[in-house]
Amino acid sequence: MALIFDYADTLTSRSVSLTFVKGLILSGGAGTRLRPITHTSAKQLVPIANKPILFYGIEGLVEAGITDIGIVVGETGDEVRQAVGDGSRWGAEITYLSQDKPLGLAHCVLIAQDFLGVDDFVMYLGDNMLEQDLTELVDRFIVDRAASSLDCRVLLKKVANPSSFGVAVVNADGVVTDLVEKPENPPSDLALVGVYFFSSVIHDAVASIKPSPRGELEITDAIAWLSGQGLMVDHDMLDGWWIDTGKKDPLLECNRLVLGTIETQTDVSTTVDESSLIAGAVQIGARCTITNSVITGPVVIGENVVIDNCQIGPYVSLGDNCVLSDAVLDDSVLLKNCLINGGGRVTSSLLGRSSSVSGTSSSGTSSLMLGDDSIVELH
Ligand code: DAU
Repeated sequence: MALIFDYADTLTSRSVSLTFVKGLILSGGAGTRLRPITHTSAKQLVPIANKPILFYGIEGLVEAGITDIGIVVGETGDEVRQAVGDGSRWGAEITYLSQDKPLGLAHCVLIAQDFLGVDDFVMYLGDNMLEQDLTELVDRFIVDRAASSLDCRVLLKKVANPSSFGVAVVNADGVVTDLVEKPENPPSDLALVGVYFFSSVIHDAVASIKPSPRGELEITDAIAWLSGQGLMVDHDMLDGWWIDTGKKDPLLECNRLVLGTIETQTDVSTTVDESSLIAGAVQIGARCTITNSVITGPVVIGENVVIDNCQIGPYVSLGDNCVLSDAVLDDSVLLKNCLINGGGRVTSSLLGRSSSVSGTSSSGTSSLMLGDDSIVELH
């Protein structure tokens, strides 16, 4: 993709054009792959380093100057609304768009048409996390839109497992010539990252395509429709890591990457006794009590957490009100109100809200994925 202006031009153009760019975050869907943890709750609200995944996406758009944001919600809509609110804490205005059934990414654009109007927009999949901030990408889209007949830009990243993603084929000029959703035989190793830039012609595309064999209106088909009409679809390449957090292992990987960036901080209301050792980057929230324990960062601990006689870390996020005693825990995410009493070594685990683990597994080490309110006694 060729840049047409230098960065100074980008900024000038940006201040003029940004008011016309909206954000559309997709936070509906059934979240089946993270079952049981998201059987009842939104996968986009699972925390990474104790902050919901969805918040990283909202913050990314706001940092890029996009504050008029629609969020598509489905059966977990109430929970998303409650967590996100009206957006004022980020200086954003959030409009919720209800989707009755998860009928596909292009269906989300279809139901968002009134909200989006004739404006350009950035569509962001609410379960994705990117290392690169969006500002430069948004700026480039605005500048290139103003200077050419560009109607859609997709963001791509080379991956080792393209069959798990939408895949694009790009010609020597950077133009996207084909897109396929999760192909058995991928035509390239360029995966579609969950960020798309559109002009309003995408509304014609989503109204023209038919559901795919899996019954969804595919955004890849809508973009291919644009190409088929001779409209310009190009690409940008993503720098840094990107994770589709919809499964446990990528989620834990993302937790490790984000925890790798935190700095040490302990709330003044927290007590750590003299027999405890805290090493590396560890963030501890308000009113925690830590006794006779070793915490090896990076670790994030929420509020009101009690830790006694434990070895915690590295790469652990503990939600508010967790209570851990005689536990050995690393590389794991615990949502709020979890309890671990003994259990041997718990590693590579994702524990839903208010779940409890006790006993000891025969191998001494357990890797668990527990839904909300689970009770597990290891033998
Ligand atoms: O992560 C990148 C991949 O995301 C792309 O490479 C694929 O081309 C794209 O189809 C998408 O694949 P996924 O299988 O990861 O999509 P998923 O069903 O997880 O949905 C992505 C987000 O959109 C998620 O936050 C749920 C939301 N969603 C999804 C559907 C199908 C909705 O809000 N409504 C829907 O109807």
